[in-house]
Amino acid sequence: MSVQRHRSDPRILGRRTLEQDHRVLAALLRPGLAVLDVGCGTGAITSGIARAVAPNGTVVGLDRDEGHLRIARDHHSTLANLTFAHGDAKSLTYDAQFDIVSAARTLQWIAEPSDAILNMKRAARNGGLIVVLDYSHVRNRWLPDPPRAFVRFYQAFLTWRHANGWDNEMADRLSGLFRDAGLTDIESHVQDEIVERGDTDFAARSALWAEVIDNVGEQIATAGFCTAAQVNEARDSYSPWVTAELLKQTLSIRTVTGRVP
Ligand SMILES: C[S@@+](CC[C@H](N)C(=O)[O-])C[C@H]1O[C@@H](n2cnc3c(N)ncnc32)[C@H](O)[C@@H]1O
Repeated sequence: MSVQRHRSDPRILGRRTLEQDHRVLAALLRPGLAVLDVGCGTGAITSGIARAVAPNGTVVGLDRDEGHLRIARDHHSTLANLTFAHGDAKSLTYDAQFDIVSAARTLQWIAEPSDAILNMKRAARNGGLIVVLDYSHVRNRWLPDPPRAFVRFYQAFLTWRHANGWDNEMADRLSGLFRDAGLTDIESHVQDEIVERGDTDFAARSALWAEVIDNVGEQIATAGFCTAAQVNEARDSYSPWVTAELLKQTLSIRTVTGRVP
């Protein structure tokens, strides 16, 4: 199997906010800070960072996906202290420039996360902070159990990720990777994303896995981890089940912070 590349769904990225979806970082931000957001996607969280450090702080949102960067530039052009840059976490060239370097939901898609963390460390000033938020997909859970066709698709999703070198327990590995990178004052915060029936944003947030099926189902089937028919069965059964039966979805997330000595 050739190594694949994943493209995140802009619908999912655009719904996120700093305050709701990167809370540990939100609490660390102050006016005047310089922040690098690695894997900024469409800039939804990054724009919140820019507002939090304004007026004198500056923010660079970096992503390898030109399509996401186009949306980010279109949507957030009014923020004077925010710029977007094309680049790869595996080959960052920044050197001691930022007070905080963050990556949210990005390292889960990188087969060599330790290289990315070392690059992020180099981009931060001495005494600066590295803040990484990520998933452990093996711990995600649904109440009640989802339809069998979705469970089968989810298993194929995990196997496809594993085959590409993308860690399905990224959140649980972060503290060790931070230690190996020589970061200090490491703190790990559980930040599970819980969606419950009755929440005002239940419909939008519970749509996530239907959107994932749409976004990567064909790629997973083409790579041979399930059939196209199985992707269709997962798609056809999942959304009606969410509407009629899903009570609670818990996505397992941690935010880990470490200091550059
Ligand atoms: C799931 S999205 C997260 C976006 C945003 N940080 C958020 O939390 O909503 C992951 C993003 O990381 C980017 N990405 C993945 N691998 C990358 C790499 N090696 N270098 C830079 N960006 C990368 C993807 O293009 C995508 O925009």
